[in-house]
Amino acid sequence: MNDLFLREARGESTERRPVWMMRQAGRYLPEYREIRAETDFLTMCRTPELVAEVTLQPVRLVGVDAAILFADILLPLDAMGSELVFVKGDGPTFPEPVRKRSDIARLEHPNVDATLGYVFDAVRTTRQAIQELDEAVPLIGFAGTPWTLAAYLTEGRSSTTYPHLMTWSWQDPAGLTELLELITDVSIDYLLGQIAAGAQAVQLFDTWGGLLSEARWRAFAMPGVVRIAEALRSAHPELPLIYYGKDTAHLLGALAELPVNVLSVDWRQPLSAVRRAVGDKVLQGNLDPTALLASPDVIERQVAELLSEGSGGGHIVNLGHGILKTTPPQHARAFVDAVKRLSS
Ligand code: CP3
Repeated sequence: MNDLFLREARGESTERRPVWMMRQAGRYLPEYREIRAETDFLTMCRTPELVAEVTLQPVRLVGVDAAILFADILLPLDAMGSELVFVKGDGPTFPEPVRKRSDIARLEHPNVDATLGYVFDAVRTTRQAIQELDEAVPLIGFAGTPWTLAAYLTEGRSSTTYPHLMTWSWQDPAGLTELLELITDVSIDYLLGQIAAGAQAVQLFDTWGGLLSEARWRAFAMPGVVRIAEALRSAHPELPLIYYGKDTAHLLGALAELPVNVLSVDWRQPLSAVRRAVGDKVLQGNLDPTALLASPDVIERQVAELLSEGSGGGHIVNLGHGILKTTPPQHARAFVDAVKRLSS
């Protein structure tokens, strides 16, 4: 098996840098759109054979060194009793958002095998399908952080400012903490279930953590991440944990303290500066996703710069956020090929 990704994540020395892309299973691939044209997103998530198929598409077509399970961070909120509806053109929505302490009673701590067992089945089916590839790669499981999940659950839809979450955080911090703790408890069960089914690493997506000042991130967002990471570490000490944050330059002091192996950062700051701030953590990232809209020779020069920025410690090459759906697949391939060629 190609285990470069796992070895790099554990801080071991490797022959070359591993590379994968956030949102690598998705709409930039015509092969994904073909399947998606016939099946709605949630049905795809609930059909293990389709999950395995689209999870492996970027491994076969683009040549990435790790697969990430096809699923969504919002699925556990649906299992907790807040119905998740994908509205065409609008993306994911929660028709009945949770916005105040009394709303929490509408949620429950579900039995994850009963409500999210379809994800665990998908992990098992995908691991089996990976074994049939010419070159097997590790499978990454994931969850949103409690703060980022609360952002969607309170707003009911995507936003860039999450006014309902912010209002709650100022007006009733203890009530919001109660919600964050419930999401944390469920997330631990959910991730332990993914690992039991065969996930070989876990990434926590904190897409909206950067909305908070460092002091408020420590108060609201950090406790859930730490509790999840410690629970996974004590059950599976060798399993690599990755924290992804967007817009987190002001949080590096706190992120350095997280009990995770890898920090995944966005494209706004050079990896050399991140490394100086966080010390010996492995870094993941951080090409600007829009750079993949440039021509392949420009992409190759950007990769050369990124590899040089990442020198001096562990580096898993990735984008700084999810791949854009307008990315030409051959540019994604140019990115992956350049990493393999230039870092050997
Ligand atoms: O390839 C992979 O990375 C694995 C699968 C994956 C998806 N979503 C599939 C998806 C992962 C890891 C996610 C994480 C996710 N989902 C995040 C965190 C990372 C980030 O992007 O910041 C967030 C915030 C979500 C919530 C979400 N899901 C939104 C806001 C949307 C709509 C916007 C969009 O990109 O369409 C989704 C839908 C979604 N999740 C799609 C995919 C492939 C598109 C669904 C489609 O085919 O229409």
